[in-house]
Amino acid sequence: IMNDADKVSEWAAKYIVKRIKDFNPGPDRYFVLGLPTGGTPLGMYKYLKNYYTSGQVSFKYVKTFNMDEYVGIPRDHVESYHYYMLTNFFTHVDINPRNTHILDGNAADLQAECLRYEQQIKEAGGVHLFVGGIGPDGHIAFNEPGSSLASRTRVKTLASETLEANARFFDNDVNKVPKQALTVGVGTIMDAETVMILTTGSHKAFALHKAIEEGVNHMWTVSAFQQHPKTIIVCDEDATMEL
Ligand code: GLP
Repeated sequence: IMNDADKVSEWAAKYIVKRIKDFNPGPDRYFVLGLPTGGTPLGMYKYLKNYYTSGQVSFKYVKTFNMDEYVGIPRDHVESYHYYMLTNFFTHVDINPRNTHILDGNAADLQAECLRYEQQIKEAGGVHLFVGGIGPDGHIAFNEPGSSLASRTRVKTLASETLEANARFFDNDVNKVPKQALTVGVGTIMDAETVMILTTGSHKAFALHKAIEEGVNHMWTVSAFQQHPKTIIVCDEDATMEL
């Protein structure tokens, strides 16, 4: 529990840097990082850029897999997760674009795209550290309430709570928010060696309570990580209001 959102971002970025350094990656040994989008991790990306610029970390031997992407908006749409990752992170560090992976929400065959993504994660040797945020309804990635806790990468129809929560990115117009997304499954994230979940703000407090103080429940998909051997929740004081 950190004092505020900025400290959460700093802690998370430092933890990623430490994990990459401890792993000592090289040409035959890539560190595999799962990455989120949304408002919460923006500060973390800012810190990571600074640690890269000041020579504290290199992403040369890092592979990344993003959690999710909207279906049906162009890659260069300012609210696509492709655009988010390029502008907030990838173009500011020394990562090779070939080593960055984001689901293609415009693929002709969305099911095949999801299978291909699972295969790519497998070929990379699995994810060492998956970083995620949560929705106010307790979803992780786009694993909406009611998702199977064993789910894999797939097409998901977004819950009305998610459409409303994300309308702020689409001119506050809920009708402009894409209705579907591609997302890694709860099971996909569970396979990662370590999971780090960032939660800030009082609007996430109830979800955090459901995530850690009540039972594992598919209506609050983030609660599944109670059963993960190494999950870290990094949160601010405001997010602990219901604990
Ligand atoms: C979206 C994303 C999630 C993210 C959530 C919370 O639904 N698919 O991965 O955790 O938003 O976003 P924010 O951090 O902006 O509250």
